[in-house]
Amino acid sequence: MDDEQRAHRSLWTVTAPPRDFPALPGDVTVDVAIIGGGMAGLTTAWLLKRAGKRVVVLDMHRILSGQTGQTTAHLTEVLDTPYATLRRDFGEKGAQLAASSSRAAIEQIAARVDELGIDCDFQRVPMYRYAETERELAELHHEVTAAREAGLLATFTQDVPLPYPVKGALRVEDQALFHPRKYLLALADRIPGDGSHIFENTRVTEVHDGAPCRVVTDRGTVTAAAVVEATTTPLNRVAMHTKLYPYRTYVVAGPLNGPLEPGQYCDSQEPYHYIRTQQVNGRTYVIVGGEDHKVGTDEDTARRYAALEAYTLRRFPVTDITHRWSGQVIEPADGLAYIGRNTASRHVYVATGFSGTGMTFGTLAGMILSDAILDRQNPFAALYSATRVKPQAGAKDFIQENAEVAFRFVADRLSRPNEHRLADVAPGEGKVLEVAGQKVAVYRAEDGITHAVSPVCTHLGCHVHWNGAERSWDCPCHGGRFSPTGKVLNGPAVKDLPAKKLPT
Ligand SMILES: Cc1cc2nc3c(=O)[nH]c(=O)nc-3n(C[C@H](O)[C@H](O)[C@H](O)COP(=O)(O)OP(=O)(O)OC[C@H]3O[C@@H](n4cnc5c(N)ncnc54)[C@H](O)[C@@H]3O)c2cc1C
Ligand code: FES
Repeated sequence: MDDEQRAHRSLWTVTAPPRDFPALPGDVTVDVAIIGGGMAGLTTAWLLKRAGKRVVVLDMHRILSGQTGQTTAHLTEVLDTPYATLRRDFGEKGAQLAASSSRAAIEQIAARVDELGIDCDFQRVPMYRYAETERELAELHHEVTAAREAGLLATFTQDVPLPYPVKGALRVEDQALFHPRKYLLALADRIPGDGSHIFENTRVTEVHDGAPCRVVTDRGTVTAAAVVEATTTPLNRVAMHTKLYPYRTYVVAGPLNGPLEPGQYCDSQEPYHYIRTQQVNGRTYVIVGGEDHKVGTDEDTARRYAALEAYTLRRFPVTDITHRWSGQVIEPADGLAYIGRNTASRHVYVATGFSGTGMTFGTLAGMILSDAILDRQNPFAALYSATRVKPQAGAKDFIQENAEVAFRFVADRLSRPNEHRLADVAPGEGKVLEVAGQKVAVYRAEDGITHAVSPVCTHLGCHVHWNGAERSWDCPCHGGRFSPTGKVLNGPAVKDLPAKKLPT
């Protein structure tokens, strides 16, 4: 296990080897600079390159090492926000557009798979959202109606091909599964050339809107007519961050010893479990996700994996959990992704707030943003506008989530860490300690050497918390994450945690 890397690697990462792209060699000029090599960034880059633009993709780590590498890749029109809620908050037309845009994203992926002959296990399957209690069942019936009215091929069924009893399910036809890395590596392979590039290990530190825009990195400056921030959560935007709530979510997988019909399944618990199948070397695996919690609010994250493993072993014919991984989903304040021109910007675009359906929203971001940059109409652009204001939708969550951020900002500064001494930090563990009257985030590596950094997040100053299972310092305010020695793992932070000296 590498202390500086994410501790757990997804099934996608270990079954599709990375490509090597160089770091930015110096200053470069292109038509469009795209920050982030995940689903949103690579789709945008590929569509723009195909339309004749010179693009550059910049990633601070390796491409596909963000949330796209950690996903479970259900391609579905069933969004995290129920259609009944979307109809209330965005109107009947809005709910219908949310459905048809998700369908368009699935078909966009299917068309690319066909056109480019991508071998990525793309498969059409039904999706089941099932109920296990009478209360869940009543809500499910309501949602079947709303989903049908929005245009989904949705029915209620009691015939659910799971190895445990359920009371009934919403079944939606013609959803899909695929291997996200295989798909996106095939797009990435086609981006460099004819004035376009992918640069890895290149961290963007500043974005300046203008004509042209300037993107400052730790290795040089990119000049471009337009910039896309496809970074899961946008860089250093205070206003935008009040509308984005970061959650961690966990996944386990293992080979099945009995049959399970290929498909997508999820329960109706809060937070819900999401389940799919995947072929690996001729064996069918079950992949189960869930146990979501607000980033940086649970230090003992190993218990999240333990709970998910117990759930999986109890319900499926599995004896061996072979893969474990986790990642972050960004919940939007009003229930839909934010895709479009950034507030007060002329040429800078954002794509964020994808919830647990960022495979489709990331693809849609590529479609909407490439159309915007190419000056083409897009039927879904207005619905997902990043500057929209929906004061009623999600107002309760908005107040609660932002009150929590304000609370964290103050409380973590005033609180005194537990009475731990340096000697109490075990190998592989991190703790925030008070040393000579100052708070210090201390990590002890397996070799016994201690590393001390400031616990003050370099984004907006909240205090980071230890994440035991992933060995990282996580910020509860906007989801920034840092390695044990303080290197940025996840934005919106762009600067490392400063090193601190410990008394000898
Ligand atoms: C466990 C899990 C399960 C999920 N399951 C599903 C699912 O079943 N279906 C579904 O549709 N969605 C799912 N999602 C959501 C989906 O995976 C994400 O929404 C989507 O992958 C986000 O893609 P992205 O391109 O926006 O971001 P990312 O893939 O995170 O890419 C952003 C990139 O930006 C780079 N970056 C960030 N800051 C900088 C900077 N300053 N400079 C340079 N580079 C930078 C990062 O290194 C990263 O590579 C799941 C997510 C998780 C974590
Ligand atoms: S991520 Fe915003 S303060 Fe830490």
